[in-house]
Amino acid sequence: MDYIFDTHAHYDDAAFDDDRDTLLSGLREHGIGYVVNVGASLASCEATLELTKQYPFVYGALGVHPNETGGLSERALQWLKESSRQEKIVAIGEIGLDYYWDEPERTVQKKWFLAQLAAAKEEALPVIIHSRDAAKDTLDIMKAERDGLCGGVIHCFSYSVEIAREYLNMGFYLGIGGVLTYKNARNLKEVVEYAPLSSLVLETDCPYLTPHPNRGKRNSSQYLPLVVEALAQMKKTAPETIIQETTRNAGRLYGLETAAEDTD
Ligand code: NI
Repeated sequence: MDYIFDTHAHYDDAAFDDDRDTLLSGLREHGIGYVVNVGASLASCEATLELTKQYPFVYGALGVHPNETGGLSERALQWLKESSRQEKIVAIGEIGLDYYWDEPERTVQKKWFLAQLAAAKEEALPVIIHSRDAAKDTLDIMKAERDGLCGGVIHCFSYSVEIAREYLNMGFYLGIGGVLTYKNARNLKEVVEYAPLSSLVLETDCPYLTPHPNRGKRNSSQYLPLVVEALAQMKKTAPETIIQETTRNAGRLYGLETAAEDTD
């Protein structure tokens, strides 16, 4: 059987302090075979490195979220680049622009977005892009910077079909999570209907964005079957096919072997 690949999680978050080990150790029983823990600040990057050492199925991404770039320095960027050479670090992220939480000022966000894109090129790693209320600026930058990038994913995709088309044409994946199960997610449903399954990957962004009917509770990879179910209905295919395809896509995105095991 194939296991589900959670391409974007934050298990270093304090929301998991009470039961992190129990939860992570039990994921395989729930059909979750791979997790990429995504850094958002320098502290969470360090925690991500620790998690990748503790759990064989946990991989990591190192990067600084746009709203956390205010305190970044060249020295910190250097540390990030060097740390990203560790074996289980598979991407640079999450990086990007966030004009919803409009801080630090946009020139600062852009400066560090560009610097981290350059780091991803130097280290030959794919990128995990966070973009909120910043569709045009993010797309302009990704178009200008795509040469030399080793691909990537637009995480928690929240824009229109027109914007999705631009990213798909550049070969990027779209990250799909709990929002797909929300009644008011008309935009995302249109995008998912439009996009080929070969360009979609599953993600939780946990502890946030818990799928319906558990919305409001803490999210974890255990709830991903609810997103698989929603995706299967929209794509008119079996849940097993959704799992097989999205896990294969995630393996391609992060350069990991995800062949199904025939022994269990
Ligand atoms: Ni995230």
